[in-house]
Amino acid sequence: ASPFNHIVVTGGAGFIGSNFVHWVLDNQPDAHVTVLDALTYAGNRENLAGCDPERMTFVHGDICDAGLVDRLFAEADACVHFAAESHNDNSIADPTPFLRTNVEGTFTLLQAARNHGVRFHHISTDEVYGDLALDDPNRFTEETPYRPSSPYSSTKASSDMLVRAWHRTYGVEATISNCSNNYGPYQHIEKFIPRQITNILCGIRPKLYGDGKNVRDWIHTEDHSSAVWAILTQGRIGETYLIGADGERSNIDVLRAILTAMGKDADDFDWVKDRPGHDRRYAIDSTKLRRELGWSPKHTNFDEGLARTIQWYTDNPSWWQGAKEATEAKYRAQGQ
Ligand code: NAD
Ligand code: DAU
Repeated sequence: ASPFNHIVVTGGAGFIGSNFVHWVLDNQPDAHVTVLDALTYAGNRENLAGCDPERMTFVHGDICDAGLVDRLFAEADACVHFAAESHNDNSIADPTPFLRTNVEGTFTLLQAARNHGVRFHHISTDEVYGDLALDDPNRFTEETPYRPSSPYSSTKASSDMLVRAWHRTYGVEATISNCSNNYGPYQHIEKFIPRQITNILCGIRPKLYGDGKNVRDWIHTEDHSSAVWAILTQGRIGETYLIGADGERSNIDVLRAILTAMGKDADDFDWVKDRPGHDRRYAIDSTKLRRELGWSPKHTNFDEGLARTIQWYTDNPSWWQGAKEATEAKYRAQGQ
């Protein structure tokens, strides 16, 4: 049985948060989830379609609303905090909402966790560690110094620091996980993989930044969910765990795999302007999580996971078509 049965999930209408809510409802029969989500451009109520209303309550609200957060935490025994502004390119164009949601929002939740003795799990990113050279034999570990590059990753690093301080100073029962790049269903089409899949479906040529050699370490979002549950329920309080599935791939390889799987020529894409400050490579060493908590990923065949993701976007055009024109217009204005 789960030690936590009244769980607040912030950002539960976003990509990873909604996948986590489905995972909990499917795998933890005693758990009730309260989703707190502001439904920004990235949040979509449809991501939670099919959730049992007896076991999932949706609250439309902002994590910076201290009164609302306090009321929800009074009824909760745990919080898993996914809500964030999550896209690097947006943070470069306008960092303002990143400071508010990622820093002030995390602060607001921590204060409520402190007041009500709520177990707090903070979802963070491998980007807090900056980047690695392509030929660096090392990968990120829990001991790697923080060196964030973008407005997005620096606000995530700030939020991690707040969580550590609230644990040490006020005794908040907190853990942090820093995960690598997720893929899977319900990912917003501004992100690399769904942008290219939906470009091809719309007859638009895919767009590759810079020289295309940047490396990301891909993990299926369902494996992220199972890792977060393991840390929430068995992780040591005050600790950080890195989550990754040994999925390093260059962007150009991923793009060519998408093109080929969708029956296109592997060179049928456009080279576009690079992202300012573009991190070269991320790579996670998840030994601590695997050894201490016995976690391992299920989706170890990337091509198979990618094929299912392509199928999902092909089968669900009504989920993404409404956002396509505005998303591409924003990129066009940036030369990307
Ligand atoms: P997303 O952008 O798809 O979803 C974010 C969700 O948060 C949306 O539903 C949005 O409406 C909600 N939200 C935003 N501001 C809010 C506010 N002020 N109050 C309440 N809700 C608000 O993001 P994602 O890709 O699912 O990422 C979720 C979390 O995982 C983030 O914390 C991100 O930093 C982290 N993360 C993401 C990845 C990745 O590959 N996408 C990898 C590692 C870590
Ligand atoms: O590493 C974890 C992070 O992964 C998370 O913290 C972020 O929330 C998440 O957005 C993701 O960040 P990235 O910047 O790595 O993801 P993105 O999908 O934006 O881009 C992936 C890579 O693809 C990156 O090297 C930039 C490149 N890219 C992206 C787009 C949108 C392209 O070449 N073309 C594109 O059109």
